[in-house]
Amino acid sequence: MVPFFSLLLENAMLSIPIAAGPLFLFAALMVSFGSPSTSEEALQDKALPLDNPKACAECHPRQYDEWKSSLHSQSWVDEAYQRALKHKRRPQSCYACHIPGSVLGRLPKRPRSRVERKEHGISCSSCHIKENKVHGPFGSKTEAHPTVQSPVFAKGSSELCISCHKTKVGPVLPLAKDFLASPLPKKGKTCMSCHMAKIERSMAVDPKTGKAVGPKRKGRSHAIQGPTHPKFLGHAFLLEAVFGPDKTILTLKNRAGHRIPGLLMRAFQVVLTAHDAKGKTLWTKKSLISGKASLGFGEALSFEAPKAAAVKAEVTHLFSAGRGIKNMGIVYAKTLKAPKK
Ligand code: HEC
Ligand code: HEC
Ligand code: HEC
Ligand code: HEC
Ligand code: HEC
Repeated sequence: MVPFFSLLLENAMLSIPIAAGPLFLFAALMVSFGSPSTSEEALQDKALPLDNPKACAECHPRQYDEWKSSLHSQSWVDEAYQRALKHKRRPQSCYACHIPGSVLGRLPKRPRSRVERKEHGISCSSCHIKENKVHGPFGSKTEAHPTVQSPVFAKGSSELCISCHKTKVGPVLPLAKDFLASPLPKKGKTCMSCHMAKIERSMAVDPKTGKAVGPKRKGRSHAIQGPTHPKFLGHAFLLEAVFGPDKTILTLKNRAGHRIPGLLMRAFQVVLTAHDAKGKTLWTKKSLISGKASLGFGEALSFEAPKAAAVKAEVTHLFSAGRGIKNMGIVYAKTLKAPKK
């Protein structure tokens, strides 16, 4: 346990006897933060000790690597975000979800911003710590830290994600509102069902030996899948066609758990075509799905084309972060052929 505590101590710049044990350490860190002095500071969450993912990584290396690969770890350093801040008269109004304190401590409201270690963005502690205890799905006992089983991590709860993803702010659209209005929550679906892949593993390792500690358990990967993963993004679309004797109906469905896209800076160029038996193009339709003309939950683009032997859909992902529009490549390409008679 020594590496964990010494790391924490180094970071908190405190000298507390290591032998004091985890509970004491948590309490001592708390006290050192003091009370807010100005009104700006009053909005900030100072009650978040242990805010160093590298300290958690000692025993949770896999969760750390996954988190590091996700945009949640980049939410402060993110280039597009930093550029957007420069144009804000009160950039502090943009801090809460990008450098949050304890999210659990504020549910169901959005979090407050924190003061320290902004570079860690949405840190382990933001999602797991409340009142100096580590909250998780099992509440397993460990000497490493006090642990609480929390309904927020139970199957079927999306509360944690919703707190930051339900607000329309800056370029961000309120996706969690779409999800809540859909039939998905009643069917037991959560944000995690689509965005965090299922895995089975031990939750922790011994920091000295690197060997797994505790039984294997069912969990989910912290490598949040999103539109920056082209293959995942492709799952948002589904082409269907009805080949009639004198016309063809094409539909391109939204399969995400909310509207697409979720960011005003993102758009999808859709090209639908109909072809004859030799492959000659008979009909073409171009459409743009954007923040302002989004495709709602369960909605589809639908068109009527002439009688055809095959139809194609091609979706290109476009991103605009202030310096023109960037082509992020084709994320969905599909051909459907008319059934042979
Ligand atoms: C209520 C929580 C919240 C607040 C407050 C907030 N954001 Fe965000 N921000 C988000 C979420 C959630 C995303 C991810 C949205 C997505 O990918 O669809 C995001 C993403 C972004 C991105 C896109 C980053 C990228 O590269 O994809 C930018 C830029 C951004 N926010 C700017 C701002 C600005 C400017 C403000 C202040 C006006 C702000 N944010 C305040 C929650 C918030
Ligand atoms: C955006 C919020 C969020 C952040 C940030 C986050 N977690 Fe989690 N974590 C979750 C959720 C949600 C679950 C439950 C997943 C499930 O349904 O099994 C979880 C589960 C866990 C578990 C138990 C199950 C497992 O996967 O092993 C551990 C341990 C854990 N997290 C550690 C960490 C560490 C360490 C970090 C930082 C490197 C971190 N978490 C960052 C949301 C978060
Ligand atoms: C010294 C090693 C060590 C350090 C450092 C550590 N943990 Fe843990 N953690 C454990 C062990 C051991 C378990 C329980 C494993 C088991 O029972 O399967 C655990 C369990 C968890 C769980 C699951 C709780 C549940 O519901 O059962 C979460 C979440 C978690 N830790 C988060 C964190 C976070 C966040 C940090 C950093 C602030 C951290 N841990 C630092 C060793 C550590
Ligand atoms: C503390 C606020 C907060 C919480 C809690 C939170 N998010 Fe986020 N999320 C953000 C912000 C901010 C971004 C944008 C980061 C960036 O692009 O810089 C984001 C980005 C994302 C993205 C886009 C990722 C990509 O690769 O483009 C997805 C998907 C996502 N979050 C899902 C979730 C899920 C699922 C949960 C619950 C387990 C969750 N979020 C919890 C604030 C939050
Ligand atoms: C049925 C699966 C599914 C569910 C459930 C779901 N999503 Fe998504 N989500 C997707 C797909 C597919 C995309 C890619 C499409 C896109 O980026 O517009 C996506 C994209 C996103 C993005 C990035 C949007 C953008 O354009 O930048 C965020 C943020 C996000 N989801 C958050 C959430 C949150 C929070 C929840 C729960 C309230 C949730 N999702 C539930 C499938 C799902």
